[in-house]
Amino acid sequence: MELEKIKEIEKDHYLKLFKRHNICFERGEGCTLYDTAGHAYTDFFGGIAVNCLGYNHPDLVKAISDQAAKLIHVSNLYYNIPQAELTEKLTRDGTFSRIFLCNSGAEANECAIKLVRKYACETGSGKTTVITANESFHGRTLATVTATGQAKYSDPFKPLPAGFKHVPYGDLEALREATTPDVGAIMLECIQGESGVRPASYDYLVGAYAFAKQKGLLLILDEVQTGSGRTGKFYCFEHYGIQPDIVTLAKGLGGGVPIACCLARGEVAETFRPGDHGTTFGGNPLACAAANVVVGKLQETDLLDRVTHIGEYLADALASKLARHKFVLDIRGKGLLRGVQLDEKLSAATVAGKLLSLGVIVGTCGHNTLRIAPPYIITREEIDDLADKMETIFSNTNI
Ligand SMILES: Cc1ncc(COP(=O)(O)O)c(C=O)c1O
Repeated sequence: MELEKIKEIEKDHYLKLFKRHNICFERGEGCTLYDTAGHAYTDFFGGIAVNCLGYNHPDLVKAISDQAAKLIHVSNLYYNIPQAELTEKLTRDGTFSRIFLCNSGAEANECAIKLVRKYACETGSGKTTVITANESFHGRTLATVTATGQAKYSDPFKPLPAGFKHVPYGDLEALREATTPDVGAIMLECIQGESGVRPASYDYLVGAYAFAKQKGLLLILDEVQTGSGRTGKFYCFEHYGIQPDIVTLAKGLGGGVPIACCLARGEVAETFRPGDHGTTFGGNPLACAAANVVVGKLQETDLLDRVTHIGEYLADALASKLARHKFVLDIRGKGLLRGVQLDEKLSAATVAGKLLSLGVIVGTCGHNTLRIAPPYIITREEIDDLADKMETIFSNTNI
């Protein structure tokens, strides 16, 4: 199908949600995407921090193909082998005792929020309110847009569900003040991704953890973007030496196949009863077969070390080539999740557009920031090329 025809169909019939680039991708190999016109692009965005093993990874393709030939879907009224294998992989280190498998980050967070409420119901504590941070992002369902600390995502959808409070990210005092007797949980991102790749300081996250413990609150960490190895540890919270009660994962977990999960430990993990929660597709054999490959590589190969080292190389390349430019206000992040914040005079979208025309894909996010989240197999050469192209763009921009 021709691109013009594709655009026409989208324009006439898709809900008016996306501002798409004038490109239709057809296939990928390694970290390179190819469009229908035959142009190649190095992908530093990975389908929004999803395609962690890159494109056409032979092990992932084989696992999915083999599983598709055997069994794609079976309901959760029965057992299936890939689901049991994934459950075992994600719980065997004892960090979390129970898991719920679902399909997207928003759904994983819904599960976390429902766990808080069911726990409050079961214990009779009435502690149903969840405190989240301003500028957070937790998804697009009604509960998760409400949890999200950005009015632009929730205001048009009022009335919103009750039971959420927002506090400034990084402010422990605000967290303490907001903790009224109805509060049962604190939900945070270790690095706020959508609002500009903004890592929590060590003191803040460790302080929030200690405060939650002291007050008997549940700590939920939304690791939809930062988990599954993105920062060089399986969970980003490992960098902080803390352990939440509930964590959510999605994005990279299936290497591009939709799958997500909510993991919990302790009493709260025991509160759901049959019928309290569920999903038709969650944990189906095809998605679990994909996640088994990703998690297997993260647990059994040196892939996490690779993310750490190549992530440092990326940070160094960005710092050495870009930091001196007047447009660059800040470079931050961890592992293979990095943000380059630009002066308002130069829009991040303009820079991303120029990079796209040079055959490199990066994302944009809050605070006029370029978001860089490539597959974990990205090479030094590809990183050098990105840094060179960014430097050229900044050097040739006169504002
Ligand atoms: C931290 C975080 N939580 C939740 C979500 C929602 O995930 P999904 O789009 O898979 O529902 C996202 C998506 O960007 C995210 O970055």
